[in-house]
Amino acid sequence: MRMYDIILKKRNGGTLTKEEIACFIDGYVDGSIPDYQASALCMAIFFRGMTDEETAALTDCMARSGDMLDLSRFGDRTVDKHSTGGVGDKTTLIVAPIVASLGGKVAKMSGRGLGHTGGTVDKLEAIPGMKVTMEREDFLRQVEAVGVAVIGQSGNLTPADKKLYALRDVTATVDSIPLITSSIMSKKLAAGSKNIVLDVKAGSGAFMKTPDDARILARNMVAIGKACGRNMAALITDMSRPLGEAVGNTLEVIEAAQVLRGESKGDLYDVCVALATEMTMLFAGVSHAEAEKQVVGAIESGAAYARMKEWIAAQGGDPAWLERAKTGDGAAEAVPVLSPADGYITAMDTEAIGAAAVILGAGREKKEDAIDYSAGIIVGKKTGDAVRKGQTIACLYTNDPAAAEPAAQRYLDALTIGAEPPEKTDLIFDIIR
Ligand code: URA
Repeated sequence: MRMYDIILKKRNGGTLTKEEIACFIDGYVDGSIPDYQASALCMAIFFRGMTDEETAALTDCMARSGDMLDLSRFGDRTVDKHSTGGVGDKTTLIVAPIVASLGGKVAKMSGRGLGHTGGTVDKLEAIPGMKVTMEREDFLRQVEAVGVAVIGQSGNLTPADKKLYALRDVTATVDSIPLITSSIMSKKLAAGSKNIVLDVKAGSGAFMKTPDDARILARNMVAIGKACGRNMAALITDMSRPLGEAVGNTLEVIEAAQVLRGESKGDLYDVCVALATEMTMLFAGVSHAEAEKQVVGAIESGAAYARMKEWIAAQGGDPAWLERAKTGDGAAEAVPVLSPADGYITAMDTEAIGAAAVILGAGREKKEDAIDYSAGIIVGKKTGDAVRKGQTIACLYTNDPAAAEPAAQRYLDALTIGAEPPEKTDLIFDIIR
């Protein structure tokens, strides 16, 4: 089998066989297929697409390209969750302990932030002492004892995705539905959970800019996961504004704790309850109404917050810090952003708000950049809110005195202020089961 023929077949709109897909992935991982041929195939896939069968075969080959985590000792109670990425998305910190307190087993590998999107591993590292690397047996023992362990991607999981994603990033082939599907789902399959809930974001801060595009991606991922033997659900949720109020690592951990203590009940609470409900339906096999009752009960009883503190302690973190941490801790500068006009916020460019947080030091432009955990933004006013000229509409936190002004400008440029309130839009556009 020649890579040239595989590229030609896809370029001409053909359907690749499992053997051809396996030949590509195996050869690309072992180095016998060069980057230029792999990028030509990715571009052909970008234009020609893939059938569900091709995408399932690609996902399966990528998942098997490295180690696969064996979670069979936990039976069918393993449950994972994946967000396609956004700004202010701290849902893992909230839903993982909720679900663990209800008997789910969350053995999760998460990523770091890059560009305008944050990453769970960075948020966890904002907790003093918290470790995000662990030997595999210790990781599994913690899942058994506490119900939740979250670490950075470790070991030789999906080397095919690592290589391909880096290639797609520099060849303008990231935003292809079959390639995104296989990239995300191969990692989820290799991570071993029986039950998987996806949070596919739609809007100005997300990969998918519209709910319709997000729906297509979500349907694809749900179908592939099911074809590979997993129980699946996907929520399509709004990312046309930051989720919750906090953007930036320490600020987001504090907000997550506030939700689990029942002190915060806005959009973040609603998305977390919806996600945890789907997760509970899958691992516990209960109805939506029953799952939601259990999820809300876990927050109201304090069980989920207690589980969050146990989880932090198990990974070497200081749970007492969570009690005393306050907004703005560790940041030398707290700079208010003032509304330039009277009116209503009618739109937010959420990607640009993420970029403002990066300027403050909360995120990375390049993988190797250091981050300032205490830097970030508290978003006071969001789309639909009335604002008055001179009113504080956000607060920027940083340790870099030179960052505040450009970040404030970026933040203001991200807002559209109009005379009339915008139409109300949904927070959760769809649930695909
Ligand atoms: N996230 C991934 O992990 N892979 C993609 O292709 C896109 C987003």
